[in-house]
Amino acid sequence: MLGNFSYYNPTKLYFGENAIENLPGELEKYGPNVVLIYGGGSIKKNGIYDDVVSALEKAGKNVAEIPGVMPNPTSGKLREGVEIARAHNADLLLAVGGGSVCDYSKAVAVSIHCDDDPWEKYYLRQEEPDCEIVPVACVLTMVGTGSEMNAGTVITDPDSKLKIGHVYANEEVFPRFSILDPRYTMTLPKEQMVAGIYDIFNHICEQYFSGYDDSASDYIAEGLLRAVIKAGRDSVKDPQNYEARSNLMWTATWALNTLISRGKSTDWMVHMMGQSVGGYTNATHGMTLAAVSMPYYRYILPYGVPKFQRFARNVWDVDLYGLSDEEVALEGLSCMEKWMKEIGVVMNLTELGVTEDMIEGIADGTFLLEGGYKPLTREEVVEILRESM
Ligand code: NZQ
Ligand code: ZN
Repeated sequence: MLGNFSYYNPTKLYFGENAIENLPGELEKYGPNVVLIYGGGSIKKNGIYDDVVSALEKAGKNVAEIPGVMPNPTSGKLREGVEIARAHNADLLLAVGGGSVCDYSKAVAVSIHCDDDPWEKYYLRQEEPDCEIVPVACVLTMVGTGSEMNAGTVITDPDSKLKIGHVYANEEVFPRFSILDPRYTMTLPKEQMVAGIYDIFNHICEQYFSGYDDSASDYIAEGLLRAVIKAGRDSVKDPQNYEARSNLMWTATWALNTLISRGKSTDWMVHMMGQSVGGYTNATHGMTLAAVSMPYYRYILPYGVPKFQRFARNVWDVDLYGLSDEEVALEGLSCMEKWMKEIGVVMNLTELGVTEDMIEGIADGTFLLEGGYKPLTREEVVEILRESM
């Protein structure tokens, strides 16, 4: 642990079957006006909506709704939600859905008492909130992003084709509490489940493939990687396997709740490219990451051989006998590629609707970060995107 840091995570979790029973008690802690925020309707089909509404009724809340939050929520939808929450004088925003709904609710929370345009202030200018932040809570229905226990939000502006994240420094943006019932994720379409599995895996990689010290955070990351590889395999074989699905849920939360990045540098270039692809295509987040991962990691491997070798050994149990350091490192990536194909992620950008004429624009929308083993130039981003087609 070479770096100094502070660590505090204010989100209270209720985990397991029937965790929703804790909702009425939590609701008592907030004022009367609740805004219920959800997506395109899956919660009405699988009964989660009824569970939540009955808890809200039990707690005697005055409820307004923001329905129809789309995957990869847009700046226009954000502005619309801010108006609804403002008019309702919201005391609590209750997000019921996946990362898109949780992210969106946090983005509304920092904008209700703020006069500026939220897209320009928080995403284009990356400013921190300088106004009251309305509390957010989550009932999670899709596993992957870690949004249930972090202060991240990602918003897409379809006009400019930019998809931009903002991880707020202010602790009040974290959900106050999150309800994690693995059963609530059982109705997810398989493609979404698989995208979520790869999202978890890549969140850990983004924090692992950076830095040279013998970081305790990296040992925690290796344990989480092993957990998601196994639970991912088991979930794909049998999506109704509660043990596997519950382990996925728990791993996703720890993969991106700020713990494993403590005391070390981080990368995040796969996410920067994936997000820009999302801005162009509106493709599913986890699949955009999968499509660029192998070309990216093979490209940076020569600059970070010791860590890739450690990945091969500690995560994939690669037998070192008779192999050079670089061969061991490459073997680790081959194991990763085989696992990605086994769980069924999308392995190229073409399948996500990317065409050659989009590459330059996607490269323009890719933020270049410095934490990886090989800080990329724009030209290298173009090369990796072409390799990913
Ligand atoms: O809209 P509904 O009808 O609810 O359907 C959703 C949506 O179509 C469906 N779904 C969710 N739970 C379901 C279900 N369908 C059936 N049964 C259920 N139980 O799944 C679809 C995808 O949902 P979405 O919330 O979009 O997925 P995800 O959780 O992957 O969130 C993606 C968003 O999170 C951002 C991404 O960029 C993207 O915008 N991220 C947020 C991060 C953070 N806060 O830290 C980090 C991530 O890297 C990521 O960037
Ligand atoms: Zn992600």
